[in-house]
Amino acid sequence: MPKAQKDKPKADLNIFPGNWTIKNEMMFRAFDLSFAQNWNPSTLPWDELDGKNFDPKERIAQAYWMSKLALFEKSGIGAFGFGIVRAAELNLEDPTKKMLASITYDECRHDEVCRRACNKLCPNWPYGYKPQSDFEQKALRNIQTLYDEGRRYWKGFVGAWEYLSPELLFAGFFFAEIGAETIFNSMRQTSKLEVYRQSFQNITRDETRHLVATMALLRAMSQEFTEEQKLTVTRQMKQGFIFLSPLLYEHKSEFWRLPSDFDKVDHELEQIARDSGLGCLTMEEKVKYWRQAIEKKRGEIEEMGIKVPAIPEIEVEGVDVQIRKNEAIATSF
Ligand SMILES: [Fe+2]
Ligand SMILES: [Fe+2]
Repeated sequence: MPKAQKDKPKADLNIFPGNWTIKNEMMFRAFDLSFAQNWNPSTLPWDELDGKNFDPKERIAQAYWMSKLALFEKSGIGAFGFGIVRAAELNLEDPTKKMLASITYDECRHDEVCRRACNKLCPNWPYGYKPQSDFEQKALRNIQTLYDEGRRYWKGFVGAWEYLSPELLFAGFFFAEIGAETIFNSMRQTSKLEVYRQSFQNITRDETRHLVATMALLRAMSQEFTEEQKLTVTRQMKQGFIFLSPLLYEHKSEFWRLPSDFDKVDHELEQIARDSGLGCLTMEEKVKYWRQAIEKKRGEIEEMGIKVPAIPEIEVEGVDVQIRKNEAIATSF
């Protein structure tokens, strides 16, 4: 756990009187663009996912991946949703509050894509599904153990507002958006089915906006940061990599406590999902795209005096940061 910051939120937190101040133009533009780029998940060609188009393993594998993605979308709904209230209580400038609300709405829309896909492919997956085989049982167990660990993540995230300043927590929001933009941008090209291609194309556009906005947030928040606070952001980036590892790499045991055959089961399912049209990435693709995405942002991050952590798994060089077992993850998706 990073050293406690003394600048906790003030006791007189209140959302009123509010303000209509716009200083951060970049933030305002990202928020404003969300209206023009609005899209509707219900109009996508869902019939493509009719159960009869796939064999049972293919249905499970695709539903598996969508329910895995949903864990991270839900963490985004929670983290940004929590952020809205805190930003309003701290009377941050108007577009910051509204952008946080708009990102929360987008993450709901992404979770809705996951829900619709699972509902078409495998009704009741995962919350009320009765597995029919050992294969299905293992897939469901993977999701259930992930969701259980999600509870630990959320406890840690909420708890972090007690010892980290809100500026630091808001500053940490950008890193996962780099990951989100990366995965959807590559999967919109590897997916073979139109419903996924269109979903990922729309989601990529949302994530690009999130990245612009959270980078603007990082820039605004980090202006007055001490060296120690900047190092905390570096640490949050490393935490972000570990948090996202079950989706964007393979699970890292610094945080995730998952069954010993979790990755074996996961790889098999992702391979089937990939071959049946969902377009999951191979390990080589994950490593390559993740690295490229971080390198693309390195200049901008370092310009703010914030160092990138070393992430040897994906060949990213930087500051050595050791994440301890059970350390709270103070970032989002
Ligand atoms: Fe998302
Ligand atoms: Fe996002």
